[in-house]
Amino acid sequence: MTTRIFHLSDPHFGVENRPGLAEFASAVRAERPDLVLCTGDLTQRATHGQFAEAGEYFAGLGTRVVLCAGNHDMPYYNLWERFTDPYRRFRQLYAEVGSEFASDDLVLVPLKTTVRVQPRFPWSDGFVRADALQATIQHLGRLTGDTRLKIVTCHHPLLPAREGERNPTIGGNDAFAAIADAGADAVVSGHVHIPFDLRRSANGAAVRMIGAGTLSTRLRGAPAGYNVLTCSRDSGIEVEQRVVGET
Ligand SMILES: [Fe+2]
Repeated sequence: MTTRIFHLSDPHFGVENRPGLAEFASAVRAERPDLVLCTGDLTQRATHGQFAEAGEYFAGLGTRVVLCAGNHDMPYYNLWERFTDPYRRFRQLYAEVGSEFASDDLVLVPLKTTVRVQPRFPWSDGFVRADALQATIQHLGRLTGDTRLKIVTCHHPLLPAREGERNPTIGGNDAFAAIADAGADAVVSGHVHIPFDLRRSANGAAVRMIGAGTLSTRLRGAPAGYNVLTCSRDSGIEVEQRVVGET
């Protein structure tokens, strides 16, 4: 048995890659994955219109969908709402099209890496707060002894792509070590608009770091695309990086 996840990230509705998203939707209809996972930055400016477009798109895929909030998914123009209830628009979308997911092969465990404000610029970088990490560690703790793959999902990569680089995610190193200790097999994210598949370890525990690129028009040195993750308890996670617009 395997569980197949189509993993996209950063569609940034408002500046989305329309042909790329159409190609992704056709692949979903043709290949019928068990799940579509989108690791954040669903919208460009978190407007009601952009959230409505994202909702229509994900509802139209006809499959289970798991969504993470990204730094672009908090109100940008309405500062009152950004400070008082930054995830209201995202929660509404989640209630319409989102779900949690577990199968015979894996369990997805969310980790929140976005904050409404932080003591530095840019605010777009990741920030793992202690309470967010604790919630994820408790979730992993409840899965102790479960032989399924434990896959943590978040928007920001917890570690930089190259070892030794400065980590833009505040609290990322500690979070990575803590999820490794707690038995996570992989952490799946977006944000950097470049796909990656790395093996890192902390305290002797190996954790796969998997990132999807972007399905927006905001390219940063890699073509638009998405990942297909084929997961099984016995053989782990196989990652296929697909580029859109090639046919
Ligand atoms: Fe993004």
